[in-house]
Amino acid sequence: MKSFYFLNLFSFLLFVTACNTTPSTKPEIKNKSIQTDKTVLTNPVSSKGYQLMKQKCFICHMEKPDSSKKSLMLAPPISRVLEHYKPSYPEKDQFIKAITTWVNNPKEENTLMPGAVRKFKLMPKLSYSSEDLSLIASTLYDMDFGAIDKPNKMTSAKLSLNQGKKWVVNEETKSIVHSISKRLEEFDSNTLKDYHQLGSAVFDSAKTILLDTSYTKETFDQLHLFFNNIEENIHLLIAAPNLDYAKEQKAILIKKFHRFNNYFE
Ligand code: HEC
Repeated sequence: MKSFYFLNLFSFLLFVTACNTTPSTKPEIKNKSIQTDKTVLTNPVSSKGYQLMKQKCFICHMEKPDSSKKSLMLAPPISRVLEHYKPSYPEKDQFIKAITTWVNNPKEENTLMPGAVRKFKLMPKLSYSSEDLSLIASTLYDMDFGAIDKPNKMTSAKLSLNQGKKWVVNEETKSIVHSISKRLEEFDSNTLKDYHQLGSAVFDSAKTILLDTSYTKETFDQLHLFFNNIEENIHLLIAAPNLDYAKEQKAILIKKFHRFNNYFE
């Protein structure tokens, strides 16, 4: 299985080298990096961090979603990785640390993208120098993909019943959802940090559902859709700027988790 994966990767590399002659549209990199990163000259995309990313990460990750190359995808686009990591690690140092730790030792229990782990299998462990990785992570943090690829986000598919019936899930999944709902409902605090922690805890519990390999493709897709729909609110809760906002996100999450019972049993 592994050798097949790498064979695939190899032919993909050949393909990329052969096709990559036309320049693609580059993301904007915020001005901040131009001032702080001395290696950045006139064009931020020529920064050392970006070049390293191209060599070491774009082998598997595309820069951003491209529906015409969907079947060639070996990993989620890097813009999606940013979308998942930035809300959880809003501070640059934490972000750099999280990315570096991940690349040095990807572990299922640390994933912020359980859907990607199920879809592509866990990212292989790569040994790159910590300097290179810091530069890559720092550049990634400063990249701004704007809203260009938002509409692509599984919006075409909708959570639906299984020919009029609910999707059958296992006892473990039901009890996870039940305990998340309970936790959200009973949670009470006036400290913003507690809300951020609540968000992380909810994420960690919910992701174990997606990592459950016992689901068939169809049931998994529906669980994935359910998860995608709540994920943004979890991110917003984790990064909520004030208490009112955090409370609002908590209330939305309670409602959304209740909807689970409309589709799954
Ligand atoms: C050999 C292919 C490969 C290469 C090279 C690669 N990745 Fe990945 N990466 C993957 C796959 C597959 C996933 C999706 C599965 C997963 O999340 O483990 C992934 C996911 C990720 C994630 C999300 C982790 C999570 O699940 O929360 C991050 C962050 C990441 N990659 C960073 C990088 C960086 C930075 C580089 C370059 C230094 C890189 N990757 C190079 C294959 C690769």
